[in-house]
Amino acid sequence: MTQIIDGKIVAANLKEEIKQKTEVLFKTKGIKPGLALLLVGDDPASKVYVASKDKACAALGFNSIIMRLPDTASEAECLKIINDWNNDSNVHGILIQLPLPKQIDEQKIIKAISPSKDVDGFHPESVGRLVIGLPCFLPCTPHGIIELIKRYNIETKGKHVVVVGRSNIVGKPISNLMYQKQPYANAIVTICHTGAPDIFKFTREADILIVAVGVPELIKAEHVKDGVVVFDVGINRVADPNSPKGSRLCGDVDYASVLPKASAITPVPGGVGPMTIAMLMYNTYLSASGETQY
Ligand code: GUN
Repeated sequence: MTQIIDGKIVAANLKEEIKQKTEVLFKTKGIKPGLALLLVGDDPASKVYVASKDKACAALGFNSIIMRLPDTASEAECLKIINDWNNDSNVHGILIQLPLPKQIDEQKIIKAISPSKDVDGFHPESVGRLVIGLPCFLPCTPHGIIELIKRYNIETKGKHVVVVGRSNIVGKPISNLMYQKQPYANAIVTICHTGAPDIFKFTREADILIVAVGVPELIKAEHVKDGVVVFDVGINRVADPNSPKGSRLCGDVDYASVLPKASAITPVPGGVGPMTIAMLMYNTYLSASGETQY
């Protein structure tokens, strides 16, 4: 029987735990975690993500600030806002929703965030600390995958983890986490990307397959071995004449065909996706409480 890795339930449990810890933090130290969100432009997906993050803050008893700028905003305007938040003791986490409009240098903006408030884990200092195994805020989606591995007690030590995708947000950090000499890691890692002549040669070797490329249903049954554990990070909308909406969501893995071969798999939606916001809340709580980071 294939185990379905249910990110919806894990995220809900985790948020409940954070909510309770937040109450204790407020009662004992008078601290309320505060998350500041900057949204630049009108990207519809970004608007939805920021609204969901704001809603999660309210549900957990956090303070949140949302600053919205038009897509004509300048780099200087963004830098001024970040500087104000860096110096505001009520702000424990700063999140700049990506992507940013073309006139703004994303890396310059990320570098302006104080690493102590970098709850997205995107600052070069956070990335460097992650690689050398020092405490840092882990980027939220890779952190969510580690949390699922932990809560489903998936054996990783000495296993072959194959990561498809090398993005800064998912592929690179999860690859760097999975080989660390840590519980729920300590694996042998292969990273596949568009430079590889045949990625499936590697995916077929995976004990644990993590896919984050944004290509609908790229991985089919013939690309995996029996007993594989699959983490599907993709969220793609594809046309579906059989659906009342005319479309449906799917991952980067062909769920129906891979399911019977897998020992465990995350569905889309309801797998890795719900974990991202839960881990953002967790990082913000850690920043406010001063508890040890990963
Ligand atoms: N855009 C897509 N994913 C993310 C994320 O995890 N954090 C931020 N800040 N922007 C994103």
